[in-house]
Amino acid sequence: MLDPFGRSISYLRVSITDRCNLKCLYCTPLNALDYAPREDLLSYEEIVEILEVMVPMGIRKVRVTGGEPLVRRGVVEFLARLKRIEGLRKVAVTTNGIMLKELAEPLVQAGVSHINVSLDTLDPDRFREITRGGDLHRVLAGIDRLLELGVPTVKVNMVLMAGVNESEVESLARLSLQRPIQVRYIELMPVDHCGMPHAKYFLSAESVLPRLNAIARLEPAKVEDDDAGPATVYRFPGAPGTIGMITHLTNSFCDRCNRVRLTPEGQLRLCLFGDENVDLRAILRRPHTGQDLIDAVHAALAIKPKAADGYHAFAMQSVGG
Ligand code: 5AD
Repeated sequence: MLDPFGRSISYLRVSITDRCNLKCLYCTPLNALDYAPREDLLSYEEIVEILEVMVPMGIRKVRVTGGEPLVRRGVVEFLARLKRIEGLRKVAVTTNGIMLKELAEPLVQAGVSHINVSLDTLDPDRFREITRGGDLHRVLAGIDRLLELGVPTVKVNMVLMAGVNESEVESLARLSLQRPIQVRYIELMPVDHCGMPHAKYFLSAESVLPRLNAIARLEPAKVEDDDAGPATVYRFPGAPGTIGMITHLTNSFCDRCNRVRLTPEGQLRLCLFGDENVDLRAILRRPHTGQDLIDAVHAALAIKPKAADGYHAFAMQSVGG
C-alpha cells in the first residue's frame, strides 16, 4: 500500500473504544467527553472484516488502543481472532496497565507480542494526580507480569510535562538499566482543551537527553524496523532495555509515516493531527462487497497528508495516540 508520497503503509492502529478507566490530565477533555453510543462503535466482526481486506493489501502490524482497550468486553478473544488473520505478523496493544496484571497471561495466550504501557511517573501520589485516581501499584505489577511471561517487546510511555513529571526523567530511564523494556519519552501534544496550556507544560525530548547522558553515555540502538516506529532509539552501554525519543513537535517524522488509524466509530483516519477521514462504517452497514472496502482504502490513501499541518486540538481519548 503506497500513498501518493511513496510511503509504504503497513501499520494500522485500531481504537476499539473511547471509554477509559482513568482520566489523565493530558488526555481527558475539560468538557465531559460524550461517549459514542454503543451502536455507533464498530463491532469486533466489523473490525475483522476491515482487516481481512487491509492485511492482503499490505498491513503487517495492528496495534489495538482506546480509550482503554482492555475495558471493552471480549477484547482477549478479539485479539486472538486478529492473530489468526493470515499475513498479519504482529498484534500489539497499548494500555494504561490498570487491568494488566489479570489480563497479561490471556493476552500472551492470544498471541499479543508487543505491549506498550503508559507510565508517566513512578510516584504513587503523582500517579493518582496525573490519572485522577489511578493506582500505580497495579500498573507496576502488570509490567512485572509481562516480563515474567517473557513478552518480547514491552515499552513504557512517559509523556513529558514540565513541572509535573520532569523530575522523574532519570528514574524512568533507569528502568532500562534493570529490565528489558524500552522507556519512551513522548513530547506533549497540544491539549489545551484538556486544560493544559501547551506552552506551559511542553518539554522537548532533546532537552532531557543531556540528563540521560549524565547517567551514562547513550549509544544509538538498533531495533527491528517497524518496532522503532517514530522513536529514535538509544541504549545505555550494556543495558537490557532501551530509551526511545518521540519528537512529534521538535523533529517531525512524517516523512517516514507508515500508519493509518481506525477510530471506534469506523473512520479510517489518515493523520493523527488532521481531519482527513474516510467512513468505512457507512460502507460496512450497507450491502457491499470486499471490493467496495478496497476502493475506499485506496481513496483514503490518496488523501493522506504529506505532513501534519499544524497541531490543532483533537480528542486524543477516542483516537488512541
Ligand atoms: N501528548 C503526548 N502523548 C500522549 N498520549 C496520550 N495523550 C498524549 C498527549 N496529549 C500517549 C500516552 C499513551 C499513548 C497511546 O499516547 O502516553 O501511552
